[in-house]
Amino acid sequence: MNYDFRIDAADKPTMYRDLASAVQGLVSGEPDAIANMANAAAVIFETLPDVNWVGFYRNIDGELVLGPFQGRPACIRIKFGEGVCGVAAQTRQVQRVEDVHAFPGHIACDSASNSEIVVPLIRDGEPLGVLDIDSPKFARFTEEDEAGVVRLGEILSRVL
Ligand code: SME
Repeated sequence: MNYDFRIDAADKPTMYRDLASAVQGLVSGEPDAIANMANAAAVIFETLPDVNWVGFYRNIDGELVLGPFQGRPACIRIKFGEGVCGVAAQTRQVQRVEDVHAFPGHIACDSASNSEIVVPLIRDGEPLGVLDIDSPKFARFTEEDEAGVVRLGEILSRVL
């Protein structure tokens, strides 16, 4: 197994395709959810430009609890329906937020964050948690990013 992923693609679709392959490679055959979240957070953080936080919140008895991540220490528990993560978990809809300061109830963990994308992770109809990516740039995440991050979420939902 090669753990030295260096993804340097010319365009976003290619970058996300390579990133999806890297995540798939890292989690293949590994049943431990924490290991898989940890490696996924690391390779996503290393690959995506202009991000300051990449990580997971897990659904523990109906509350989101901080999981493996890269970035600054973050708030530990988020209720369903609260903040960008809680809304994503409750509605099961991707939240792509161009300006987090304009999002009602946004939970500011790192004051450097200005935009955010949160993808709900669903398996067999059950919300497992969310994948959260923050950026210091406003409107950092485009529809192309959303498609790419949703694909990562699909891969990860199977192994968490
Ligand atoms: N901003 C998120 C909280 C998590 S941190 O960004 C890591 C929210 O509003 O749900």
